[in-house]
Amino acid sequence: FDYNEVITMSILFYEAQRSGKLPQNNRIPWRGDSGLRDGCDVGVDLTGGWYDAGDQVKFGFPMAYSVTVLAWGVIEFKDAYVDANQYNHVLNSLKWVADYFVKAHTSRYELYGQVGSGITDHLFWGRPEDMQMHRPSFKINAQNPGTELAAETAAALAACAIIFKQSRPGYSRMLLQHATQLYEFADRYRGSYHLSIPDVASFYRSYSGYNDELVWGALWLHRATGARSYLEDAKRKYQQYGQGNTPKLFSWDDKRAGSQVLLANFTGEAKYKGHVANYQQFLSGGGAVKTPKGLVWLDQWGSNRYAANAAFIALAAARVPGIANREQMIRFAQSQIHYMLGASGRSYVVGYGNNSPTQPHHGSSSCPTPPTECSWNTYHSSGPNHYTLYGALVGGPSRTDSYTDHRGDYVSNEVAVDYNAGFQGAVAGWFERLY
Ligand SMILES: *[C@@H]1O[C@H](CO)[C@@H](O)[C@H](O)[C@H]1NC(C)=O
Repeated sequence: FDYNEVITMSILFYEAQRSGKLPQNNRIPWRGDSGLRDGCDVGVDLTGGWYDAGDQVKFGFPMAYSVTVLAWGVIEFKDAYVDANQYNHVLNSLKWVADYFVKAHTSRYELYGQVGSGITDHLFWGRPEDMQMHRPSFKINAQNPGTELAAETAAALAACAIIFKQSRPGYSRMLLQHATQLYEFADRYRGSYHLSIPDVASFYRSYSGYNDELVWGALWLHRATGARSYLEDAKRKYQQYGQGNTPKLFSWDDKRAGSQVLLANFTGEAKYKGHVANYQQFLSGGGAVKTPKGLVWLDQWGSNRYAANAAFIALAAARVPGIANREQMIRFAQSQIHYMLGASGRSYVVGYGNNSPTQPHHGSSSCPTPPTECSWNTYHSSGPNHYTLYGALVGGPSRTDSYTDHRGDYVSNEVAVDYNAGFQGAVAGWFERLY
């Protein structure tokens, strides 16, 4: 498999998800400016960021998770990005969203966490450039807090601050200042963010609650600042909130597996290494469900994404000094990545490899450019998407490896910014092991 090509394409997928005024160096010829009035309803400039998936809502919580995980992969596997000549491109992607989060953090205890309404947005099938619907802006503040959202955004900005520390020290310091404030906001004013932003409840409600983000956020702030107090705080909360259990999956919702790896690495303590080992044993051993062809099948909706996340966590865990069963983790990650790239008999990455998906559930790429009209008829048509959404990982197979390349099937054929985050990091991590 050509890992270099996969990394290159995966970054292009993130560029295709851009909202706002596109830069001169936009590399997606079929994309233009969009969402230019985002934030007008509240008098704030909320242009920028990424569209979530095949739709055009800007959901701050999964967007922030995607940035944290992408950034983690860049920090951990920088050599792979450099070797693939993609380091600057991935930094541009991260900065695109970090800039948006900075704009959305309008004061110490105020953060905009969503633009666009899930229900209204989903009534429209078309290009973001042609959106006509009202796109309301939703925020959290001290009276209506949102701990998951504030803590994850803090983690994302802290991880970006690490990455930009050398190349843009002033920018990095500014990001870190926002991250520090956001974490304090998350910790001080506690509450589930879907109660403050009810529109998100049927889309990205955090079922795991906010305890996992409090630990995860503190760990990223520790890493970015070097401050011992954040590590002590993370350890205390980890203990208090029982974060050492063996999770089923690592995802935009549940950060436990990631925190376990970071804690094992930062402290070297046997306790955390044990928790890491338990999860790896679950993945590689008999605990987790596997499809007949070997994909670890953790959930139905976007099965590939959960498998990719597991592969990424395995490759990060394999880097923890003194960790046991390193080779097993690496082999596990390899098998998952190879499944998605074609070992299963087909590629699950749009535009890459053998028999790749042609009908991703993605409004923007499915539509022709005006004046040709785009509508639900386009959605229901049987042909391929009008443009190739290079690099997007589609949802994935059922637990029996069955899959149909059908636009209407968002469970198996949607794409999303969180799908590619762990995936891209896992490919980079695997690629880096090869030289
Ligand atoms: C572990 O910590 C070291 C030292 O800070 C760092 O270089 C490495 O990237 C970390 N790895 C993980 C998986 O956290």
